[in-house]
Amino acid sequence: MTTPIRTQVCIIGAGPAGLLLSHLLHLNGIESVVIEARSRDYCEARVRAGVLEQGSVDILTESGLGERLSREGLRHTGFEMHFRGQRHRIALDELTGGKAITVYGQQEVVKDLIARRIADQGQVLFDSSDVSVHNVETDSPMVRYQHGGIAYELSCDYLVGCDGFHGICRRQIPSSVLKTYDRVYPFSWLGILAEAAPAQHELIYAHHERGFALFSMRSPKITRLYVQCANDDRAENWSDDRLWNELTIRLGTKEGWVPNIGPIIQKGITPMRSFVCAPMRHGRLFLAGDAAHIVPPTGAKGMNLAVSDVIVLSRAMEMFYKRGNTRGLERYNDIALRRVWKGERFSWHMTSMLHTFPEHDPFHEQMQLAELDYYTGSVAGRTALAENYVGLPIEEF
Ligand code: APR
Ligand code: PHB
Repeated sequence: MTTPIRTQVCIIGAGPAGLLLSHLLHLNGIESVVIEARSRDYCEARVRAGVLEQGSVDILTESGLGERLSREGLRHTGFEMHFRGQRHRIALDELTGGKAITVYGQQEVVKDLIARRIADQGQVLFDSSDVSVHNVETDSPMVRYQHGGIAYELSCDYLVGCDGFHGICRRQIPSSVLKTYDRVYPFSWLGILAEAAPAQHELIYAHHERGFALFSMRSPKITRLYVQCANDDRAENWSDDRLWNELTIRLGTKEGWVPNIGPIIQKGITPMRSFVCAPMRHGRLFLAGDAAHIVPPTGAKGMNLAVSDVIVLSRAMEMFYKRGNTRGLERYNDIALRRVWKGERFSWHMTSMLHTFPEHDPFHEQMQLAELDYYTGSVAGRTALAENYVGLPIEEF
C-alpha cells in the first residue's frame, strides 16, 4: 500500500542547498517537501567548510536567518597569501568596494536552516529510505520513499536534486545527454580543529616546498588548520607532534609567527576534486549544489556555489508560480552553470598555484612563485583574487 500525496516542489537532500531552497520557496508562498536519507543529528554534525561569501551572508540575512550568523560569524575584510616565509594581505573590502567574507561553519548554517524550516512548519523528512525518482521527462514527476514505516508516492510540479555528489538525481539524466568534467588532484588535505585561540585574525593560504597549508578558524577559541598530504594517507599516520611540527614549518614566518598549539578535537582527510555535470536541468528535474558540481576546498567555494544555484532557482520558480513566466526556469541551466564554471576556475587556480604536485620540477615551482608574486604584488592581481574570493555577481534572467 502506498499513500499518494502532492506538493509543488519536491527537494531531495537536506544539505545547505535543499534546506535553503525550501526556505526561500516558502517565503514566496511556494510549497515544498524535503526528503533526506540521514537523521537530523547527522546532518547537523557534519564538519565541513566555513567561509561565506558576501552574497551568501546577504541572502541568509535578507531571508531572516542572520540573527546567530551576525552574532557568532567572524567577518573578515582580508586574507593572507603566504610564500617564501612572508605574508601578503589581500584587502577584500578595499579592493571590492566594501565586500567581505564571514567565517561561519557550514553545519551552523544547516542548524539555523533546519530550526527555521521546522518553526515555519516546513516538511523536512529526515530518515527517509528507499528514495527513488520517476517520470522526470514527463509533466508529472514523482518520488517514492518510505518514512516512519509508510510508503509514499509524492507527485510534484518540479523535482530538485540537492542530494550531493553521491546522490541519485544526477543519474536520472540519460548518459546520451549528460556530460561530465572531472579532475582528481594527486593530493588531499588533512584538516584539524584545535582548542587554541587563532594566533592571527585572518585566513592564511600558504605555499611551501613541503606542501600547502591553510590557517583558518571557527571561533575566538577554535583554530581550523589543514596540511596537504598524500591521497593514500590516513589521519592515524599524523601524530599530534608531527602535525604541529609540519604546520609550524609551513605556516611560520621569517619574523617568527607560528600558530597557537592546543588539543586536537577533530581530525579528517578531505579529497580534492573538480567536477561539473551539464546540463543542470533535464525535463522537470533540476540539480543544485554538490549534486551537480564539486570544487577542491582551496577557494572556499563549495557551499557558496550551492547557495548561488539556489538563489537562481528560487527566483526562477518565483517567476513561474507568481507570473506564469517560465523564462527563469529555461535560463537556469545557463546562468547557474556559467557561475559554477567561474567558481571552478578560481578553485582550480588557487589549488594549482599553492600545492606541490608530484610531477612538478623546479621550473614549475618558480612559475608558482612568480604567479604568487604577480597576484599579490599588483593591484590588478589582488583585485582578481579579491573579487573572486568575496563572490562574483549573479546574472539576472
Ligand atoms: N535520498 C535522500 N537524501 C539523500 C540521498 C538520497 N538518495 N542521497 C544523498 N542525500 C542527502 C545527503 O544525506 C545529504 O544530507 O543529500 C544531502 C546533500 O547535502 P550536501 O552533500 O551537503 O550537498 P549540498 O546541499 O549541495 O551542499 C554543498 O556541501 O560538500 C559540501 O563543499 C560542499 O559546502 C558544499 C556543500
Ligand atoms: C575552513 O575554515 O574550513 C576553510 C577555509 C577556507 C578554505 C577551506 C576551508 O578555503
